[in-house]
Amino acid sequence: MGNKILVLNGPNLNLLGEREPDIYGTKSLHEIEREVSELAGKAGVQIEFFQSNHEGELVDKIQQARGVVSCIIINPAAFTHTSVAIRDALSAVKIPVIEVHLSNIYGREDFRHRSYIAGVARGQIAGFGAYSYILAFQAALHLLGK
Ligand code: DQA
Repeated sequence: MGNKILVLNGPNLNLLGEREPDIYGTKSLHEIEREVSELAGKAGVQIEFFQSNHEGELVDKIQQARGVVSCIIINPAAFTHTSVAIRDALSAVKIPVIEVHLSNIYGREDFRHRSYIAGVARGQIAGFGAYSYILAFQAALHLLGK
């Protein structure tokens, strides 16, 4: 299985940078991915990024990670609060999961306080903007014993 980390991003995160920058910051998803990618290079781990606005595509990607990926970092975005399908897929593949959010979902609207993903994740990082992804990457290295 090696040392491959898969970073998944859900709906509307392709609009990062222009989408509600007061909540989500001004960095684009590509910028965040570039920063994480640099860290992966330095750490000598393989990394793959995938963003989709479609629940089923995220489920497919999670299923395809079986036997190939050692750790999944996921920002399920709005699906965090709705998707039994993504939770079940993550649970089925038995790959350690790190849940990540730019915003502190517990300081926002009530409907964001519940995560369907948290129960199948090893841990959750929320509230540090783009830096949440850096922290999640560090946590992934920790899980991989790096
Ligand atoms: C988010 C928080 C979710 O509630 C929201 O639907 C998102 C982004 C975050 O990263 O803060 O799209 O996951």
